[in-house]
Amino acid sequence: MRKQLTETPLGQGNKVERFTSSGFILAAIGSSVGLGNMWKFPYITGLYGGAAFFLLFIVCLILVGLPILLAEMTIGRGGRGNAASSFSNLASDKNWKWLGFLMVLTAFLIMAYYGVVAGWTLQYTVDSLSGALSKPGMDFEKQFFDFAGGYWPLFWQLVVMVICGIVVGKGISGGIEKFNKYLIPGFLIILLILMFRALTLPGAAAGVEFFLKPDFSVLTGESALIALGHAFFSLSLGMGCMLTYGSYVQKEQSLGKATVAIGIGDLGYALIAGLIIFPTVFSYGIESDKGVGLAFMALPAAFSQMPLGTVFGGLFFLLLAIAALTSAVSILEVPVAYAMSAWKWSRKKAAAIISAVCYVIGIPAALSVGGVLTDWTPFGKNVFDWFDFTTAYVLMPLGGLVVTLFTGYAWKRAGEEAGLTGFWYRAWMFSLRYIAPVLILAVLLYSIFVKPV
Ligand code: PFF
Repeated sequence: MRKQLTETPLGQGNKVERFTSSGFILAAIGSSVGLGNMWKFPYITGLYGGAAFFLLFIVCLILVGLPILLAEMTIGRGGRGNAASSFSNLASDKNWKWLGFLMVLTAFLIMAYYGVVAGWTLQYTVDSLSGALSKPGMDFEKQFFDFAGGYWPLFWQLVVMVICGIVVGKGISGGIEKFNKYLIPGFLIILLILMFRALTLPGAAAGVEFFLKPDFSVLTGESALIALGHAFFSLSLGMGCMLTYGSYVQKEQSLGKATVAIGIGDLGYALIAGLIIFPTVFSYGIESDKGVGLAFMALPAAFSQMPLGTVFGGLFFLLLAIAALTSAVSILEVPVAYAMSAWKWSRKKAAAIISAVCYVIGIPAALSVGGVLTDWTPFGKNVFDWFDFTTAYVLMPLGGLVVTLFTGYAWKRAGEEAGLTGFWYRAWMFSLRYIAPVLILAVLLYSIFVKPV
């Protein structure tokens, strides 16, 4: 007989909440579809091999990303706790919860610097719509660093944290689910408008070709590791987010179908992001390997030359802002869920205090991109890059490793909870036991010892 699990007890006044089934899919897609595929993905694609890199990303997503995604959601629903207690609710060895706690910490750190970039998108939305980004002869690189190096980013970062704090404070159905239900349809419409605009620009074909015609000779081992790291980031894995969302999923919902839907959503978004960004920058003769600059420098430059550029530029940054906010709320939910059960805080108190602390921790990251802390580079990186490196390339893979080892080796009932049998169960276990851990270890060792990105 299966042991009856009791939910991890929550703090006073907090009720046990559940997503509706469509609400869960939307919220999970909202989490995965974020800044990653618009801001990071195009520039790493530009740097690490164009279309061939995109194919590698798809392979990593399918072979490693989706199995871990399913594993995280399954642990959450099976354990019915936060990112730490779900493990100890399921395992006989209670020490697993410390590894889960590592994920809560990771979420906390990601929130701190993700809020900074989310803030930039809000400022750029306002600046695009007001025409401030379409002055003739503007130097967009200087413009970006002047803005990012000033103090406005601190204001916009605060706006992001306040929005996230309010949404998460309102709970699952009245906050996170509602927020995603309102924003995602608008997001989709803007995405399609921008894709249509980009693909009909003169000379767009060269950008499409760069993005979709693979040249495998440019791939390196490093490309594969970067692709895997990005699959993690992009699917919001390894920091307890999908696990925490999974703990709010109803028993009747198929997690296998949810995995496929989220995978298609994320991949579709990556594809459309590429079909917006590359044709646009190629059409205006702008380089595609500009690093962070691609979204915040190259694209504004292209929009400034485009007819109706203020509208398209404004829509692009609005799109980014929506993507960023629906992801940011999912990140904040991880430590908030933890505080509600581990420290018995009310949801509102947890959301308010944690978003405030993330804000404060994020300030040095905000000030290190062109600002007063830019030249402070302990061990070769500025604070912002340290946040990105430690979370995306070390802590998230580490969290992913914990999830694969737990589901593949320690928890015997994972298949039952996930609703998988036969071929799909064996394939899932094969990835979790053999493929995913090996590849993740390779990413970890590479990024720590060989070449920190
Ligand atoms: N998946 C988000 C993106 O691609 O931007 C980032 C993210 C969200 C990472 C939520 C982690 C997370 F828990």
